[in-house]
Amino acid sequence: MSPKHTFIEFEMWLLIPSILLICFFVKLFCNVLQTYTYWSDRGVPHLNLLRCFKNCTISLFRITPSADFFKDMYDEHKDKRYVGFYEYFQPILLIKDPELIKDITLKDFHSFEDHHNFVPSADLHSIWSKNLYSMSTQQGWNEMRAILTPFFTSSKLRAMFPSMKECCDNFLKSLHSNEGTKVVEIKNLISRYTVDVIAKIGYGVTCNSFENENNEFLKMSESLMNYTGLEGLTYLTYLTFPTVMKKLNIQPSRVRASVFFRKLFLDVARMRDTNGTNLVSLLIKNGFLSGKSYSKLSLVEDDFVGHLLFLLIAAVETTAHVLAYIFYELAENPKVQQKLYEELRRVLKENNGSIDYQGITSMKYLDNVVSECLRMHPVQAAHDRKCTKPYIIKAKLPGESDIHLKEGDWIWMPPEGVQKDPKYYIEPEKFDPDRFSAENKHTINPFTFLTFGVGPRNCIGQRFALMEMKLIVAEVLQRYQLESCNFPNVERYHDSKIWIRFISRS
Ligand code: HEM
Repeated sequence: MSPKHTFIEFEMWLLIPSILLICFFVKLFCNVLQTYTYWSDRGVPHLNLLRCFKNCTISLFRITPSADFFKDMYDEHKDKRYVGFYEYFQPILLIKDPELIKDITLKDFHSFEDHHNFVPSADLHSIWSKNLYSMSTQQGWNEMRAILTPFFTSSKLRAMFPSMKECCDNFLKSLHSNEGTKVVEIKNLISRYTVDVIAKIGYGVTCNSFENENNEFLKMSESLMNYTGLEGLTYLTYLTFPTVMKKLNIQPSRVRASVFFRKLFLDVARMRDTNGTNLVSLLIKNGFLSGKSYSKLSLVEDDFVGHLLFLLIAAVETTAHVLAYIFYELAENPKVQQKLYEELRRVLKENNGSIDYQGITSMKYLDNVVSECLRMHPVQAAHDRKCTKPYIIKAKLPGESDIHLKEGDWIWMPPEGVQKDPKYYIEPEKFDPDRFSAENKHTINPFTFLTFGVGPRNCIGQRFALMEMKLIVAEVLQRYQLESCNFPNVERYHDSKIWIRFISRS
């Protein structure tokens, strides 16, 4: 073979992969272009690509909370009913208009029945996708919701009240024993109360995290919740390359915690106390672990563990977050605090100096205070819905065109933007519980109050959380006056600490 011949052959070998590579990049470019023209092609106002990338990365590493990103996007597109943006390669439609929120979450619920599942279901830790929040209607969400609903009725709440009070008493004891050092970082302390409540009422486990702050239930719960950027990255790597990570002996704390809780739940279940009032008993009674078949639900051990684990995650951080801000707002607003204290004294007088279930439910101003705090300090940055059937958002305002949503499209709704929009709440940055008074409440559109979500997929634990929060606020206020320690930026930053001065009333 002549050298010239060999050279031509070599060139051909180079040419083919080069053409393939060019084709690959052209295709990639077309795909990227197609993705990033998704909203402009549909005439939807949208955020520019660079800002989307910057904001997603900042939120991923928790440099600033994603709530700020949504609030800014909401405010920038003032008179729009929706805004498009991209979470990396995913186009998402942010719905701002309460009427559209009502259509999506309630009126046309059949087209938006599910949440997106953020956890790959076929991975090693599929328990993370086995929970009410992630379940689709196809997977039996309706049946599962019907199983869990009886746990949250008024009669169940009344029965749970003494256990909640026991956890509350432990909190008060720890405050009392803190004589001299009454300035407390409330977020940390209050999350021990919410952990104790769910441990006791949810799983029938007593842990008293105030006396025993090193108990394993608390430690493991904390490692589930404290999901820092680095921990998130380790977990993502673990899900993608489990074998490599195992060989390297790297185990994210989330995985360690899930091993601990699996063992604990199964140990409690082994006692087979089907008469207990806790969640474990409820699930066993409904055939979890004994293989009872429902039309869509399949009940294996992972389902049992998954649901119980998620309820812990759903209940602890959320309630602690709102509670910490209730104490913060009361400390910052002495007039509100005084008015609440007067209501409390009236109720105590009528009830021989103690607070019971009935007393708490009768406190109207307490309800207003909690509602206003939920409005100002929502927990989730955005609620999501997945489009499950093709749907058209009809054009209504000048400049709009019909938007044709297809199955799988992502919809998000931003509580903070809506709840701090002066169109719906006058002076939205002002803490004013009277907005929720009997005289004013009728002026509030329920689809502008999104902290617990809305429609059939709203928070199932809402009443539980309200009772848990109201009880401890009433018990604390009865004994202490709260004073602010004036730390800046508390209201914007979810991760910041909140210091409160507790001044004994006795
Ligand atoms: C202040 C405390 C709480 C807040 C702010 C809160 C907020 C939320 C929100 C926003 C959702 C999603 C709603 C939607 O997409 O429309 C949700 C769902 C859920 N929450 Fe809560 N939550 C709280 C406490 C609790 C508690 C105490 C429990 C259980 C004991 C709980 C259990 C759940 C469950 C199981 C779901 C999924 C419901 C479903 O998809 O059917 N939450 N919560």
